Amino acid sequence: MIRLKTPTEVEEIRRSAGLVADTLEYLGPHVQPGVTTRELDRLAEAFIRQNGGVPSFLGYRGYKYSICASVNDEVVHGLPGPRALKEGDVISIDVGVYRNGFHGDAARTFPVGPIRLDAQKLLDVTRESLMRGVAQVKSGARLGDVSAAIQAHAEHHGFSVVRSLVGHGIGRDLHEDPQIPNFGRAGVGVVLKTGMVLAIEPMVNAGGWEVETLEDGWTVVSADSSLAAHFEHTVAVTEDGPDILSLPTTRGR
Ligand code: MF3
Ligand code: CO
Repeated sequence: MIRLKTPTEVEEIRRSAGLVADTLEYLGPHVQPGVTTRELDRLAEAFIRQNGGVPSFLGYRGYKYSICASVNDEVVHGLPGPRALKEGDVISIDVGVYRNGFHGDAARTFPVGPIRLDAQKLLDVTRESLMRGVAQVKSGARLGDVSAAIQAHAEHHGFSVVRSLVGHGIGRDLHEDPQIPNFGRAGVGVVLKTGMVLAIEPMVNAGGWEVETLEDGWTVVSADSSLAAHFEHTVAVTEDGPDILSLPTTRGR
């Protein structure tokens, strides 16, 4: 069952998702060679709480951290820990914020210092795949339009989209209906309606689309150990098109 949000509820999600975006902006300059993923987790949790939010992921299905920190071939759900980032790594940071009854969710893949040209291309293509999916969002469009736009751009550049993990509706719960695959056919699937709020999140591998989960029960890696990227926005459906809720707040904090 897809829960439609009132305009007031959409504004609450904008506040939560805005804090998510500000947290990612805040973390950006800390993503440097030598920093550990645990330090990034601590910084994120403190920033979220100082700004009146609660980390959505902390305690979710027993998850013990405030962010997911996925390095290189780790696709999503990487666990923060003592690993220090090295020049040339890429790190996907996923952040969720709960505040006043509503969640926001967003992710970005950051370069650690200078990175290889092929790695930078994967990041650029995955971000652009997200934005092409987002651009399809409009009342009356189909969910398959979003999925197909994401897949087409990633595959056009020779990359693969992960099949087994999807985006999702978001609101009072972190994960609501509908599921949003990052592959599919235009013109099919759920008809989008004003008041739907979607977390769209392509996960793209430089190699094959197959993934595996590590022994820790969380970390998802590419099966062929190829580099992976992940970008996510929380987006509201309107008559006029997409309303991206996970944008940094302009006034700062
Ligand atoms: N942001 C992830 C998603 O969109 C959630 C991470 S799972 C958690 O599904 F356990 F870390 F919360
Ligand atoms: Co999500």
